[in-house]
Amino acid sequence: QSNQFCDAGVKYSESTCGFSSTSSSKLLIKGGTVVNAHNQEVSDVYVEDGIIVAVRPNIKVDEDVTLLDATGKYVMPGGIDPHTHLAMEFMGTETIDDFFSGQAAALAGGTTMHIDFVIPVNGSLVAGFEAYKSKAKKSCMNYGFHMAITKWDESVSREMEIMVKEKGINSFKFFMAYKGSLMISDELLLQGFKRCKSLGALAMVHAENGDAVFEGQNRMIDLGITGPEGHALSRPPVLEGEATARAIRLAKFVNTPLYVVHVMSIDAMEEISKARKSGQKVVGEPVVSGLVLNDSGLWNPDFITAAKYVMSPPIREAGHDKALQAALSTGVLQLVGTDHCTFNSTQKSFGIDDFRKIPNGVNGIEERMHLVWDTMVESGQISVTDFVRITSTECARVFNIYPRKGAILVGSDADIIIFNPNSSFEVSARTHHSRTDTNVYDGRKGKGKVEVTIVRGRVAWQDDELKVAPGSGKYIEMPPFSYLFDGIDKADAKYLSSLQAPVKRFSAS
Ligand code: URP
Ligand code: ZN
Ligand code: ZN
Ligand code: ZN
Repeated sequence: QSNQFCDAGVKYSESTCGFSSTSSSKLLIKGGTVVNAHNQEVSDVYVEDGIIVAVRPNIKVDEDVTLLDATGKYVMPGGIDPHTHLAMEFMGTETIDDFFSGQAAALAGGTTMHIDFVIPVNGSLVAGFEAYKSKAKKSCMNYGFHMAITKWDESVSREMEIMVKEKGINSFKFFMAYKGSLMISDELLLQGFKRCKSLGALAMVHAENGDAVFEGQNRMIDLGITGPEGHALSRPPVLEGEATARAIRLAKFVNTPLYVVHVMSIDAMEEISKARKSGQKVVGEPVVSGLVLNDSGLWNPDFITAAKYVMSPPIREAGHDKALQAALSTGVLQLVGTDHCTFNSTQKSFGIDDFRKIPNGVNGIEERMHLVWDTMVESGQISVTDFVRITSTECARVFNIYPRKGAILVGSDADIIIFNPNSSFEVSARTHHSRTDTNVYDGRKGKGKVEVTIVRGRVAWQDDELKVAPGSGKYIEMPPFSYLFDGIDKADAKYLSSLQAPVKRFSAS
């Protein structure tokens, strides 16, 4: 095999380019502190053929086993990023990271699985799925798919069933923004929610009022504000709060669970908090950019520097970041994604004269684990077990692949990281593994470092070297009816019986 995939800034030896791995199928991780969402203890972990077969102290093994010493380090489930866009066609271009470069970056940062959003082709979910399966042929880690719903008719409804029953997709995303392209109406949202409920699939929303955003954009252009700051000014938090509240209320009306992606503002977070307090099943996903950045970068006089921060909903002014961290630490928000959606400087420059043409998206797939550790654990806001929960376990539960994923338990897939809390990391666009030429976290330093990333029992990343080849990745099917659907039928029955009494009285009189 030629070294054709080595343009990702990824160093890996020629021998591993041959679609085979050099590491043995038996692996023993010795002496680390094994962390799960529910517990942590010093233990060995023994893996055979990609599956964890023993977790206990002092495991003795034969000679043909790869040994990894984890003394003084944490042994944790590999990160699962619930929100990425690799090789996505969007805003007249395509994201610069594909299913190999994006995944190489992920592995370098301790993420062993991601869930990407399939965009239908000409409204066809089946065609979209096939296109993404083809894009993902070069994968080198675990991946799953969500599916976007961008129009509504009988065939979309039918294809949703095919996706759930035959293709391993258990979640559908509805865009309430991007008027004129991906945006859908409330009518479609209702139909979509109903269909999701009947299939046991999770409804997800990009919550911004797209009509008002359109209005806000025109307002900025009329005022002569055409730079990247116009992006944030045109779509303020109130529009995210409004759409979040609307989606939550419609999901309540239908009585189906809801997942709000990229929660970027206090406004949206408070709607989620209120709904959860009332007992509604709503999951809120903050993304790393919203947790650790503020909007000041959008005012940078250098266009390229400012444009790299353009994403939707926008990165908010200081204060929202800290509030989202607090919400994450107290369980108001449940898990962390990235919305990794990279465009290079040339692509960002499409909007040099008009912020509306700057392709929306930031990086994060490589930085998520390190930044969440540094921001949340090192600051004392959450425990190490909570770290595992918000970066891996809760994602596995929500998308119904737990405990196969998201745990270090006997019988689980061996997707594992060895994390050194005494080492340190530094983010740089010069040394990162994404193909993009900028990094919104450039220059950030912090404590902790992922030293080894193991995917299904194979060392995939170690010593800054990728050890797995394109094509070695695996598609993970996700079954419907996650725990979020428990009790939905009982609540429906209660609702129906509440209707019976007055109806009977009326017909008797
Ligand atoms: O700016 C963003 N978020 N780009 C990716 C598409 C989306 O809305 O998730
Ligand atoms: Zn190379
Ligand atoms: Zn979105
Ligand atoms: Zn996204």
